[in-house]
Amino acid sequence: MNTILMSLIMMTMTYEMPKLPYANNALEPVISQQTIDFHYGKHLQTYVNNLNSLVPGTEYEGKTVEEIVATAPDGAIFNNAGQVLNHNLYFLQFAPKPSKKEPAGKLGEAIKRDFGSFENFKKEFNAAAVGLFGSGWAWLSVDKNGKLHITKESNCYYHKNCYSTDCHCFYTMLK
Ligand SMILES: [Fe+2]
Repeated sequence: MNTILMSLIMMTMTYEMPKLPYANNALEPVISQQTIDFHYGKHLQTYVNNLNSLVPGTEYEGKTVEEIVATAPDGAIFNNAGQVLNHNLYFLQFAPKPSKKEPAGKLGEAIKRDFGSFENFKKEFNAAAVGLFGSGWAWLSVDKNGKLHITKESNCYYHKNCYSTDCHCFYTMLK
């Protein structure tokens, strides 16, 4: 591809909202339409808009959110890219009528091995999430030996994850 064409593509590259694979009211009564409207429609949209206004003219222009999170120092660009990436993972993991009640295969086996049972994993994961002060994320992460760990991070710090939950969504659900 010639340089001018590549430059034009990079200049016009914008970050977009993920398209939800379900209706805004499809997760009720677990997550209300009001919460999705607010959390997805306003909250995530703000991070996407911020990124689109912050990135042009910087060394991050033309980079994916994953590339920005992997390379940017702490600051507004990293924070907004991290929140876009985390929220994309968060919103795309839900299904209104999941075909299974718990993970199967390698993930299901690893959860049973490292947490005793899926029920116990849920208990520990929920305890980590509600124990976060302020805004943050609870993660199910895997280490280099394949062992699963529950971790929690404030703001937008990112882990390679299997599941995540976003604690500030509880605020909107309780409002
Ligand atoms: Fe959020």
